[in-house]
This record gives sequence, C-alpha cells and structure tokens, in this order.
Amino acid sequence: MSARVVVLISGTGSNMAALMEAAKDPGYGAEIVAVGTDREGTRGVEVARAAGVPTFVVPFRSFSDRSAWDTAMSDRIAEHEPDLVVSAGFMRILGPAVIGRHQAVNIHPALLPSFPGAHAVRDALAHGVRITGTTIHFLDEGVDSGPIIDQVAVPVEDGDDESSLHERIKVVERRMLVDTVGRLAREGWSIDGRHVRFGRTDMKENR
Ligand code: GRF
Repeated sequence: MSARVVVLISGTGSNMAALMEAAKDPGYGAEIVAVGTDREGTRGVEVARAAGVPTFVVPFRSFSDRSAWDTAMSDRIAEHEPDLVVSAGFMRILGPAVIGRHQAVNIHPALLPSFPGAHAVRDALAHGVRITGTTIHFLDEGVDSGPIIDQVAVPVEDGDDESSLHERIKVVERRMLVDTVGRLAREGWSIDGRHVRFGRTDMKENR
C-alpha cells in the first residue's frame, strides 16, 4: 500500500510536479493525495488540479491570527489522512497545530544550518560562499531547524546571480526530494535526536 502524501506549496510547484511524476510509478511507494496552499491562483495549484489531484487553499489573510490559520491548515491536511506532509516551496511557517499532528518534511535551498529563512540563495551569494546546496529535513517548531534527512552540495559559479544559482539548486533539489520521499515512503524512518534513519516499516508508528 502506498504512503499517503500531502504536498504544500506557495508558488510554481516544480518540486511538487516532480513528486507527482515519480508517484505515477506504483513501485515508488507514495501517492500524492492532495496539494495545499496558503494562496489562490498559484501555478502549482493549477498544475495539480489539471492532473486531477485534490487541492485546498487556506489563505493566511482570512484568519484573525497565525494560530487560527495554523489550526485550519492542520484540519484541512488531516482530512486527507496523510502519512507524510511535504512542504515543497511553502512560504509560511507551520505552527504547533500542524507540527504536533503531522509528520512533515521541508526542502530548503541551502546547506542548513547555514542560511535559514526565506532568502537563503540571496544570503548565501551575499556571504560569498563557494559551495551551497539544498537540504531536506523534518519540520520542528523552529525555522528550518529540524533534523536533517539529506543534503546535496551545489558549487557557486563566477557570475551567478540569485536566479541562476537557484535554478541549478532546484535541479538537484527535485532529484533529492523524489529520492528521499520515496525512501521514507517505502522504508519508513526513525528520528533519534537530530539523527534521522531510514528503516521503519509502519509509518504510523513514527507519530
Ligand atoms: C525551492 O527552491 C524550495 O527549496 C524553496 O522554494 C523553491 C520552490 O520551488 N523553499 P518550486 O515552487 O518547487 O518550483
């Protein structure tokens, strides 16, 4: 039986599209059961709808405060009974209502713990690093601070700007995301402090 995955996005959704493509193979082990977003009219949501994947929108501005939005988001996610939530270009911080109820991973376009936050590629360039990359990690209460599952390095090239560097990061990011979600789905996982290991068979036991 495939693991049920809910993907959260805020924009283009190229990582989501890569997951949807991988999930067409029944051997992949994960099924994208819904795509959620915090804003209407994103390209990624249109792509998901066109592919017949159920979508939901929980607009941040429709709620009186962050905690009410977080609770609504958690409830909408729960309707799809996910084994795993994947934040793939979701640009809001998920709070305790989501984190406490769902197992969730996030991709971040830098080698954490360097350059957390919303401008990771810009910040890495400004700092002058020669190597940056991408990280997939479990979500915790902090910002880009949860246990790391995998990382891939991407060299910075002379003449790179934010857009050229981010595009090269996204190429390796999509591969890493597909590989990692597939492994989590097929093998399960355990988390011991900051260390994540593959190899639990019943994902429900991880909760
Ligand atoms: C990715 O680089 C992700 O790491 C970051 O936002 C980008 C999303 O790209 N958080 P896309 O929407 O999947 O194309």
